[in-house]
Amino acid sequence: MSQTVIAIDGPAASGKGTVSKAISEKLQFNYLDTGKLYRAIGAKYLEGYPPVDAAQSLDSNDLDKYDLKKPEIAQAASEVASIPEVRAALLEFQRNFSQKMPGAVLDGRDIGTIVCPNAKIKIFLTASLEARAKRRFIELYKHDKEISFETILKQIRERDKRDQTRSSSPMVAASDAKKFDTSELTITEAVDKVFSYIQTKL
Ligand code: C5P
Repeated sequence: MSQTVIAIDGPAASGKGTVSKAISEKLQFNYLDTGKLYRAIGAKYLEGYPPVDAAQSLDSNDLDKYDLKKPEIAQAASEVASIPEVRAALLEFQRNFSQKMPGAVLDGRDIGTIVCPNAKIKIFLTASLEARAKRRFIELYKHDKEISFETILKQIRERDKRDQTRSSSPMVAASDAKKFDTSELTITEAVDKVFSYIQTKL
């Protein structure tokens, strides 16, 4: 029997990271935040590495070496993520991860469409641009008091556009994904809603 794969996609700050982690803990499943892979490649790119080389030689140390939450790394991640060879270099690792016992939750932009099109459960989380920018601002302001809400809003808007319009694996909900809008939900409410849905599918 194949493993249970749960694919959770959605735009920046839609809540997918928090929800995915919580779901993986509830089910005792393995969890992969695929955005971290692209962020690590973005960080290496900012250091001067050609993005395809960075993707092909990526190792687990790279994921701990940088402060991957930084907004400039997020922007660089979305730039390198539009390169087909970068995406191709990450496919096998992600697919192998999805087959880990006893199951896996992967979050990203193209998990339900490209990485794991046969995932048993597919979720697409959305939220309004303003709600997402507000969340990201609150999170980043704790570490950087210079940051402005307008800058975050602009960066997320740009990243959404780039992620949605790139030709290679654009961010799009799989036709069989269940959509949830988290704009008006607390984290606990979002986790509860998604988890209730998942339980009906398991
Ligand atoms: O999810 P996160 O915001 O950490 O992702 C950073 C960037 O990496 C995204 O804006 C997107 O361009 C890229 N990404 C992607 N495909 C994924 C995960 C992330 O293109 N599966």
